[in-house]
Amino acid sequence: MFNVQTYSGLNRAGRATILNPAMKIVSVVGARPQFIKAAPVCRAIRASGSHTEILVHTGQHYDAAMSDVFFEELGIPAPDHHLGVGSGPHGAQTGAMLAAIERVLLDERPDLVLVYGDTNSTLAGALAAVKLGIPAAHVEAGLRSFNRCMPEEINRVVADHVSSLLFCPARGAADNLAREGITRGVHVVGDVMADALAEASERAAGRSAVLSRLGLRPGAFLLATIHRAENTDDASRLGAVIEAFGRIPEPIVFPVHPRTRRALAGLGNPQERLPNVKAVEPVGYLDMIGLEKSARIILTDSGGIQKEAYWLGVPCLTLRGETEWVETVEAGWNKVVGTDPESIVRAVREFRPPAVRPELYGGPGASARIAALLGSGLNI
Ligand code: UD1
Ligand code: UDP
Repeated sequence: MFNVQTYSGLNRAGRATILNPAMKIVSVVGARPQFIKAAPVCRAIRASGSHTEILVHTGQHYDAAMSDVFFEELGIPAPDHHLGVGSGPHGAQTGAMLAAIERVLLDERPDLVLVYGDTNSTLAGALAAVKLGIPAAHVEAGLRSFNRCMPEEINRVVADHVSSLLFCPARGAADNLAREGITRGVHVVGDVMADALAEASERAAGRSAVLSRLGLRPGAFLLATIHRAENTDDASRLGAVIEAFGRIPEPIVFPVHPRTRRALAGLGNPQERLPNVKAVEPVGYLDMIGLEKSARIILTDSGGIQKEAYWLGVPCLTLRGETEWVETVEAGWNKVVGTDPESIVRAVREFRPPAVRPELYGGPGASARIAALLGSGLNI
């Protein structure tokens, strides 16, 4: 069924032997952070000249501000297959993706499927691949919140356990995998989001007029995002976060994820009654980097934004009970504050990171390391 010169499939232990470094790779993306992660990896794979890459967009995110803007700004090639799956409950959404990705894989017959992060698109891509005997490679492997109530935790645990190649952003992620018995095919390559940030930072400086558009002065506002199910789908937690925003005596820019917009509407849009809060549509990546760079503090439950805050040297308060990005907390630049208004307001007033900020997650270069590993002729 597959090209035996390049690929011998998964063996009984679920291991792959890829005999030829010139592979056909199907990359599966579908949600906002995956477009950002895939951009530098796509570029590195294509620059290597050895592989053919087929890009699949599941359609998990579909609003222009959640999808198209990233393809345009980051120069990601147009998807070869757009599955148009859209929103839905976990089972329906993941199931629809699984069936649609399977059809693509049967048609394209790739040597490897590359998945990113921890969304339902990640889970569907990895499962569809291995069920057909195609090895999966997971970018951002080994992250753990140790909270199985999070849909993302289920997605990343399953993706890691079925993947043949696991690209970890840091040593701690590889240690998490080792504790679960996964040691083969594990590579600590650094974080591809550092590449995305490095590539976009300079362009953001030249192109983003977001501060003047929103009437903001550098260093004189806070930036906030929330979208985690645990915060949006729980009215008391969402209400508490908005209450905290209202009690902070500083301007807050709040790009609102569509999931959060819907949840806020259900609460009667309390953010609209807060004069210090500027709720806006989700912004493009260059504008987001422009906002992050100039914020005094970032308040977020986003994974990617915690890291960007660290790399940009902006203090971060994480509006969750735990984080996967423990290194940023250990370095003293990120504090997990939960959603209690008093804790949030106090942290905004008192949080001071240390003067030093050691390099975390390998600095730029993870995408090139991934492309090089893919090209090295894998026996995993
Ligand atoms: C998903 C991921 C989450 C990731 C986030 C990044 C899962 C389980 N969750 O969460 O890990 O951090 O993306 O942003 O995969 N919606 C729109 N327009 C869109 C997309 C979504 O209106 O373009 C609305 C729909 O009402 C939808 C809801 O947002 O039901 C949630 O979208 P979904 O993709 O299911 O999960 P996210 O919350 O975006
Ligand atoms: N982001 C963006 N515009 C926004 C909010 C976020 O470009 O309005 C970027 C952000 O800079 C980061 C990524 O989206 O690179 C994070 O995605 P998100 O918070 O949706 O998901 P998570 O990282 O939590 O999975």
